[in-house]
Amino acid sequence: MTQSPARIKIAIQKSGRLTELCLELLQQCGLKYSRGRDQLIGFGENMPVDFLLVRDDDIPGLVKDDVCDLGICGMNVLEEKRLEYAAAGDDAPFKMLQPLDFGHCRLAFAYPEDGDLQAITDIDGQTIATSYPLIVEDYLKRNQLNGQVIEFSGAVEIAPNLGRAELICDLVSTGGTLAANRLVEGETILESRACLVQTPIDIPAEKTEWVNRLVERIAGVQQVRGSKYIMMHAPRSALAAIHELLPGAESPTVLPLDEVNDKVAVHVVCRENVFWETLEDLKRKGASSILVLPIEKMLA
Ligand code: PRP
Ligand code: ZN
Repeated sequence: MTQSPARIKIAIQKSGRLTELCLELLQQCGLKYSRGRDQLIGFGENMPVDFLLVRDDDIPGLVKDDVCDLGICGMNVLEEKRLEYAAAGDDAPFKMLQPLDFGHCRLAFAYPEDGDLQAITDIDGQTIATSYPLIVEDYLKRNQLNGQVIEFSGAVEIAPNLGRAELICDLVSTGGTLAANRLVEGETILESRACLVQTPIDIPAEKTEWVNRLVERIAGVQQVRGSKYIMMHAPRSALAAIHELLPGAESPTVLPLDEVNDKVAVHVVCRENVFWETLEDLKRKGASSILVLPIEKMLA
């Protein structure tokens, strides 16, 4: 396949929590790709879109330097790099486009289970191990706390056991890693999830159409994931009450029912998940034949 410069490159994490979810998202955007075993580039077959599989810490730099037009990585990584670039005088290294609905985690302090230290306000002079030194230093400064930060590029959770630090600040998702290392979670300093970013450099005209299409499709996929299409029969008099019960619903379509005068068919898109409790409440308001359907695609 020939590679024209008009192909769009998107950077995603090579191997980690976000990898499969990013590939799934691109597939849901309609991308069909080929990728050789162990290859770090996936070539789009039906769109001029290729992806690069790289270390998550490298994604912000690749997007900043316009090696990739788009990137997906955790806000934790973006924030650490943002502080690094800001210190070097670059205040807009990438355009934040959209937070995504996966990769949720938090950057939090954690203390040894059997130690004396239990709150960040008591850290005076203690040492904190982290892979996010700039975020942690920024937090300490803003809260006028006096601690020493040492950078660990991985396995932060073993630092207290090695005698290298009194506490750590690391990503927590399920909490399993902390528990396994007999650490207790403390204050959260950053809530994170995956985020779509774009290069700050103007996209050349021959690429804009596909960049915009991809960004729009990603937004569409995100919207659909939490949305449901609901159909039901309901008394006309209950329409207002029903509308109130449905989370994030836009104006419903109301259709007459053949030979039934007091009841109508109501169709509505709900932008949030619909729980059993809501269906039971709808029934109590007089709704019947309630169907909740998944939505496959949506274009705003
Ligand atoms: C994070 C963090 C912990 C683990 C926590 O690493 O460094 O090791 O996840 O998850 P848990 O609370 O579910 O146990 P991650 O997989 O993000 O890798 P990275 O920091 O090396 O990119
Ligand atoms: Zn990483």
